[in-house]
Amino acid sequence: MRGLTFGFILATGLGLLHGVNGHGRCHVENRDFDFIIVGGGTAGLAVATQLSRALPYECVLVIEAGPDGRDEPKIYVPGLRGSTLGGVYDWVLPTVPQAAANGRTIPHNRGKVLGGTSALNLLVWNRATVKEFDAWEELGNPGWGWKNMYPAMLKAENFQRQDGIAQYGNDGVGYGGPVQVSLVENPPAHVQACIPTLGNLGLENNLESLNGHSIGAEYQPAMHRVSNHTRSYSVDYLPRAGDNLVIMFNSTVHKVNLDYDWRGTKATGVTLVGGKEIKAKKEVILSGGSLLSPKILELSGIGQKAVLSKAGIRQIVDLPGVGENLQDHLRIQTSYELKPEIPGLDVLKYNTTRAAIELDLWRRSQTSLYQYSGSCYGFLKWKQAIGNDEKLLRLAHQSVDWSNPVDRKKLSLLTDAYSGAPDLEVVFGDGYIGTKGYPAKGTPGHGKNYATLLGGVQHPFSRGSVHINGPDPATKPIIDPKYLGTAFDLEATIQAAKYLRKMATTAPFKDLWVSEFDPGLSVETDAEWETYVRNNVFTFFHPLGTCAMLPKKNGGVVDPELRVYGVQSLRVVDASVIPMIVSAHIQTAIYGIAERAATIITDQYRW
Ligand SMILES: Cc1cc2nc3c(=O)[nH]c(=O)nc-3n(C[C@H](O)[C@H](O)[C@H](O)COP(=O)(O)OP(=O)(O)OC[C@H]3O[C@@H](n4cnc5c(N)ncnc54)[C@H](O)[C@@H]3O)c2cc1C
Ligand SMILES: *[C@@H]1O[C@H](CO)[C@@H](O)[C@H](O)[C@H]1NC(C)=O
Ligand SMILES: *[C@@H]1O[C@H](CO)[C@@H](O)[C@H](O)[C@H]1NC(C)=O
Ligand SMILES: *[C@@H]1O[C@H](CO)[C@@H](O)[C@H](O)[C@H]1NC(C)=O
Repeated sequence: MRGLTFGFILATGLGLLHGVNGHGRCHVENRDFDFIIVGGGTAGLAVATQLSRALPYECVLVIEAGPDGRDEPKIYVPGLRGSTLGGVYDWVLPTVPQAAANGRTIPHNRGKVLGGTSALNLLVWNRATVKEFDAWEELGNPGWGWKNMYPAMLKAENFQRQDGIAQYGNDGVGYGGPVQVSLVENPPAHVQACIPTLGNLGLENNLESLNGHSIGAEYQPAMHRVSNHTRSYSVDYLPRAGDNLVIMFNSTVHKVNLDYDWRGTKATGVTLVGGKEIKAKKEVILSGGSLLSPKILELSGIGQKAVLSKAGIRQIVDLPGVGENLQDHLRIQTSYELKPEIPGLDVLKYNTTRAAIELDLWRRSQTSLYQYSGSCYGFLKWKQAIGNDEKLLRLAHQSVDWSNPVDRKKLSLLTDAYSGAPDLEVVFGDGYIGTKGYPAKGTPGHGKNYATLLGGVQHPFSRGSVHINGPDPATKPIIDPKYLGTAFDLEATIQAAKYLRKMATTAPFKDLWVSEFDPGLSVETDAEWETYVRNNVFTFFHPLGTCAMLPKKNGGVVDPELRVYGVQSLRVVDASVIPMIVSAHIQTAIYGIAERAATIITDQYRW
């Protein structure tokens, strides 16, 4: 296998095109390629790499809107995760004001850099459960159940086993894949309280929680390369690519070029912002992510009549599902000022001397606060969290859109006590990560360390949409997730918040803090919690489902081979194809989708 020669940058007279490989028949200057992958993000680099390996005689082009970013410490130092949000590598896509969240606008961060959102995300590496993937299959997608998705997900990872406090069993992790994952060596004291605290609340320690059965309290891996303590992400696929893979940086795709007549419609290539056209002899694959792939389809004339005509775009393919079915995980959090003797990670925010010392330790590969990358979770059914789940289940029945098969699946997982699909995730977060932001200098909370507990509603019923806002590719899409849009979603988020308080007041965690910072112990009644939830509900940044793999009559955009309905030679491979949200941070599922996509596409073209 040939590796890519990084750093050998070719540039045309325009200064637009850059390649990472200097050899071979496939050059960035070419005007046609066999496959064009739009978006060098999480799924994009995985599918592109696997195609380049399996089809060595084809030329594969990745077009990425952002820069390279591999030399950016804010990306590769685990302890600096989060520092890129809102910066130059971020598309920053705000929602429209969310009526049920007091009219607040919630920003969606999205990577605009090689690796996409895997370059910006918070490193959590976990996995949803057997019945949820089986639900994908049962929704009309043969081959997408646990049986096929599990091996596909395992292919992406290499679990680096270590000694130390955070232990994992054997089942559920993969070896030999490109993304390096590991348990953190030194969780902070307040995170070490996770397993015993949840244990005191009746949750068993699950040592093999990535094997499709995640219920319990558990340490789980982060995408963390142990050898030099760096972020591992989708760019780690690239050294495995053939020299037939070419990457074009800083180049934004405006639309897919379509040839159409009375016989049908076929994708023939793409047009970049600025007008340059590139041909795809075999296929165009959209991997722009769930908030941007629908935009490319719509700008190309594929989508709902009403949306397209409002934007002044001629409809070429009528596909009502484009941009619909938007689902996300609802997040709520409570935070605690730690006792002065309990170490915390906020010190890196308020003490620049200490931050410099720790960064220097990191650079010299010595134990450093900048190595820490998140670690301990609980996954549970509502019954385990709140005992009597009758009210929630009643509200769930009221919140379901009975005409929608995805909603009905969610309800069946929720109401089946033995589904094994968790309803609630809780996270023992490090440092202050509430919606107010770390207290500013000169305010009372400054100079303190905090622990934040996060709660995530795993299968909310609200479904929103993302659509273009006019014909200009530079305009951000209109994103409306309808957060807290059903009675169930609101009540579930309130129950999640109350459970976080219960965790905080349970030993041993309860002995580590002096005061509750968010919302504060004065918040007690359901009405007070509701106000807090409406003012502070947030996202786990898992928007998905907007080019859903579903039967067309159910709002589907792609078929089980990820082909866009009504268009030849056009697929979507990213989080947008996920039909139903699952109870985990979603990147492992996305890599699984990319791996399966590569197998499906290769099977079609191998000779
Ligand atoms: C702040 C944050 C924290 C997160 N934390 C976690 C976590 O800890 N664990 C977890 O599992 N998940 C996490 N997620 C979610 C996860 O990272 C994403 O769901 C996932 O990376 C999305 O992958 P994707 O391939 O669908 O899209 P992306 O990775 O976003 O890739 C899309 C790519 O397409 C490019 N692109 C878009 N439009 C165009 C265009 N027109 N032309 C050219 N290029 C284009 C983009 O620049 C980008 O590189 C987090 C997300 C965020 C925002
Ligand atoms: C892309 O653009 C950025 C910002 O203008 C620039 O620094 C970088 O060199 C360009 N090319 C690549 C390959 O990142
Ligand atoms: C860390 O190691 C990887 C794999 O060897 C390497 O590609 C990367 O450049 C290293 N990063 C740093 C910052 O040392
Ligand atoms: C900041 O950190 C340095 C180095 O650990 C320490 O000497 C100093 O006392 C700290 N300052 C504050 C205000 O905590």
